[in-house]
Amino acid sequence: MLVHKISEVKEKIKEWNGLKIGLVPTMGALHEGHLSLIKKAKETCDKVVVSIFVNPIQFGPSEDYDKYPRTLENDMELCNKERVDLVFAPSPSEMYGENIRLSNDNLTYVCPPFFYVNKLCGKSRVGHFDGVCTVVLKLFNIVQPDCAFFGQKDAQQVIIIKKMVKDLNVPVQIIQCPIVREESGLALSSRNKYLSENGKKEALVLSQILNNIKACYKKGITDIEALKETAYSYLTDKHELEYLEILDKNTLEENQNANENSIALIACRVENVRLIDNIYLGEI
Ligand code: PAF
Repeated sequence: MLVHKISEVKEKIKEWNGLKIGLVPTMGALHEGHLSLIKKAKETCDKVVVSIFVNPIQFGPSEDYDKYPRTLENDMELCNKERVDLVFAPSPSEMYGENIRLSNDNLTYVCPPFFYVNKLCGKSRVGHFDGVCTVVLKLFNIVQPDCAFFGQKDAQQVIIIKKMVKDLNVPVQIIQCPIVREESGLALSSRNKYLSENGKKEALVLSQILNNIKACYKKGITDIEALKETAYSYLTDKHELEYLEILDKNTLEENQNANENSIALIACRVENVRLIDNIYLGEI
């Protein structure tokens, strides 16, 4: 069932009183990565809500908000196949009101701590995580789920959302699900649609770099700088590296040496498409 209004969601969840509700927040253009979240939600909850909303306030002025893929018909087919109980696809005005200027001198924002946002994706995407936390908290308040499901591919996003939930006593359990990859190793992303066939091949360097870092760590190299240096032999003029970091997987703190709690994270542009990926160095 597809609804566009907040009031329709509220009516539905009233009917589900006492049942365990799972929410899978998405921006649509659903792929196997999203479907893995939906499947996990179906396994563990009585009712599953998928939200589909390309959230304007998490895109910077020069980012791809206008051209972000919008494929509601196909998304609905996939959700129906997975027996999703409710799809909530609001308009921007339904979420933020008519004629609202979407800036924080006009709208209440959730601002995650500087320590968590002033690194990795947050460094180049200023304000992005304010937009993410704001819409996620709004969705939590509208749907009132018991659990919400997020992919590990957006590792910084999940850590920040967990922090928000803890700091603001939000009664929602955050469930993180593993990255889904193509057979080639490429992490699934709605933005892969922007890549040519050749671009997709070039994009394999992200997972290759991460796998190699993990292999080197397993061989006993723990010095972070030495691990990061192993990446350079993979990069050509087809790749514009934005960051490669090895941090604590729970706190995003820096250490001098990698350990079983480390995560390696990369962002790199290929054909001007910004791609991200990550890998845990220790056992999960
Ligand atoms: O990961 C995403 O698709 C988005 O950031 C989210 C969590 C749906 C918020 O708009």
